[in-house]
Amino acid sequence: MRTTLRLILPLIFSVAVVSLLFATYQVRTQRRELRSDLSRRAEILGDSLQESVEQILDRGSDKGLQRLVDRFGQREHLKGVALYDPAGVVIAITPALDPMFRVRPAVASRATQQDAGVGEFVRGQAVHIYALSVHRNGEPAGTLAVFHDTTYIDDQVAHTLRDSLLNATVQTVLIAGLALILVRWTLTGPLTRTANWLRSLRTGETQSAQGNLPQGPLFEQINKEVTHLARDLKDARATAEEEARLRESNVSIWTAERLRVSLTNKLQNKPLFVVANREPYMHVYSEKDHEINVLVPASGLVTALEPVLLACNGTWVAHGSGSADRDTVDEHDHLRVPPDHPTYTLRRVWLSEEEEKGYYEGFANEGLWPLCHIAHTRPIFRPQDWQHYQQANRRFADAVLDEMEGTESPIVLVQDYHFALLPRMIKEARPDARVAIFWHIPWPNPEVFGICPYQRELVDGLLGADLVGFHIQSHCNNFLETVDRAVEALTEWDRFAVNRQGHVTRVRPYPISVAFQEPTLAVNEARNAGAERAALCAELGIEASLLGVGVDRVDYTKGILERFRGIERFLEMNPVYQRRFSFVQIGAPSRTDIERYRQFLDEVTSEADRINARFQAGRWKPIVLLKRHHSHDEISRYYRAASVCMVTSLHDGMNLVAKEFVASRDDNRGVLVLSTFAGAALELTDALLVNPYDVQQLADAILRALNMPEDQEAERMLRMRHNVREHNVYRWAANLLSDLTEIRIDVPDRVESPLAGEVASLGTHG
Ligand code: G6P
Repeated sequence: MRTTLRLILPLIFSVAVVSLLFATYQVRTQRRELRSDLSRRAEILGDSLQESVEQILDRGSDKGLQRLVDRFGQREHLKGVALYDPAGVVIAITPALDPMFRVRPAVASRATQQDAGVGEFVRGQAVHIYALSVHRNGEPAGTLAVFHDTTYIDDQVAHTLRDSLLNATVQTVLIAGLALILVRWTLTGPLTRTANWLRSLRTGETQSAQGNLPQGPLFEQINKEVTHLARDLKDARATAEEEARLRESNVSIWTAERLRVSLTNKLQNKPLFVVANREPYMHVYSEKDHEINVLVPASGLVTALEPVLLACNGTWVAHGSGSADRDTVDEHDHLRVPPDHPTYTLRRVWLSEEEEKGYYEGFANEGLWPLCHIAHTRPIFRPQDWQHYQQANRRFADAVLDEMEGTESPIVLVQDYHFALLPRMIKEARPDARVAIFWHIPWPNPEVFGICPYQRELVDGLLGADLVGFHIQSHCNNFLETVDRAVEALTEWDRFAVNRQGHVTRVRPYPISVAFQEPTLAVNEARNAGAERAALCAELGIEASLLGVGVDRVDYTKGILERFRGIERFLEMNPVYQRRFSFVQIGAPSRTDIERYRQFLDEVTSEADRINARFQAGRWKPIVLLKRHHSHDEISRYYRAASVCMVTSLHDGMNLVAKEFVASRDDNRGVLVLSTFAGAALELTDALLVNPYDVQQLADAILRALNMPEDQEAERMLRMRHNVREHNVYRWAANLLSDLTEIRIDVPDRVESPLAGEVASLGTHG
């Protein structure tokens, strides 16, 4: 109430003051107008009487004079008329006039002196006198005075004043009342609600980080902040509870908090430098209104690395590829992210269109990507792309070296096939740095890798690192075999290391994973997959009692066409599932500047259309293809609603969709159909493992998944969840970074690429 009063009282005061000032102005104006109106009327009357009086004077009739003044008594504010001789003695006077006017008033004397008409409001007597001299035969013969009663002016002014004051009071009361209601309704009420919600959140009475917060532009900023605060509070509480529970059950699960503490010790408060081509947050101008939107790109790498950066404040160096990226960084090309909860630094590196085309689209994605995936798309190696690849690696190396300046023995984690040359470039400039590179895609056998004309340079670049990580052991083996064949080095198979001219590179498997969220809902409030499915079907405008889901970047390595054909076969062989089972394929268009990817997107679309045309009936259709980027929350709804999730990669380093699906099923339901050619198949052995090239096997797996007894489905999901929970992304980062920090770094006087000498002796690309 006090706050409300503090807001309202100044308002009342100002409204009252303004109304009073206005009333005063009105009254003064009215008085002025009435007075001048009266003066004017007196003047007219005086002038017309002057003529009559002078005629009577000329005739010398005293009686005539008296009759005239008698006639002008008491009419419409006119008190009377008097005529004085030049000596000031009254000659004729209206009888009802105050006797004091028998003596010539001062104003009449002035009129005589000036021989002109003079008017005056007499102070204290509520009278206006207009006097003018009269003549007989052209000679001054006295003064005529016209007396008006002015009390009516005061009455009218008082009346107006009363009305104005009443008006002001009513207005003030009305405005104050309205303001009171408005303040309560739009300000104090919502703020009190927000405060109550925050209090109940703090005291643990409610768990919802989404309160019934006031809406509208006024509250937008505060809502955003309060919601973040609530979420942080909720997260902090959940983390504390989780830690306590894990301590209690003596399970050593890696959590974000444990990773943070462990890395703080291991890194000794040094920041972590991560280099990855893809940035975690992209700023893009929307086509519609040219507003800046933030996008989280569809990328397994981003999914995996973000929690690590969140756990240990560091710097992520990435290509700034969004249309609004340049407009959202500071003068050092930095910005703090995540945008709504800034925790670490993103350093953007700029590439020209030509560089991007050569390095990213060409060498990385038309060369190395198909080379390593063996998905029967022929790799293309153009010499100019190779030039750009080297240049871009140099550009990123310079950026990370710039970031590392001033940090002693920095720790650098390089990501993926975009940066094979980076480890050596960094090491050459900073031999004291600990450098690891994690290769997120498969490494093929040496025969396959050997077709790359630049294999020696790539392998040599990688061997600049102290640690090279792959998802699985067989990729490590393939890499060591490739090293054996491509460059001069001592491969130590017993300890999985390569010694190249005195520098040792360890090669290890680190199966990447996701951040497993402990279920936040009690069993009795567990999410209802059926209800979620019904809601999604309604949104999609389809009718289906069973849903399957696939989530991929539209990439030819993901086995999307094979998956669709498996579904077709399944429906063909099991017609009872027609009109019942629909498969939702979330396909984020990817790398669409590359011809093969555009072509593949068309192939996926027409394959879905073909199958739909074959089976579609009423509001049911077999395949719903959603060709757009979906946020993590949007995808989670499909994961939770699906009876089966299909991951049918033709070849995949790990595949985090498989693990995300498992992590999101806190109801222990849902079956995973998983390709044996995805790294994840080694860990998620309770999935239905399939060869995606075998259409019949895919169809059988779908049937088996939909008919799996509930207890078996739950057992399998529980075991998979157990695995993902234990082998989460924090453990991945902890193992990788802990191995890296434990490596002894010998700083040589000068480090130089061993290839320089070798190229001379070997001549061509091995
Ligand atoms: C794979 C790669 C990542 C890459 C992601 C998305 O997961 O290993 O390095 O970021 O695909 O591809 P994009 O080309 O869009 O970054």
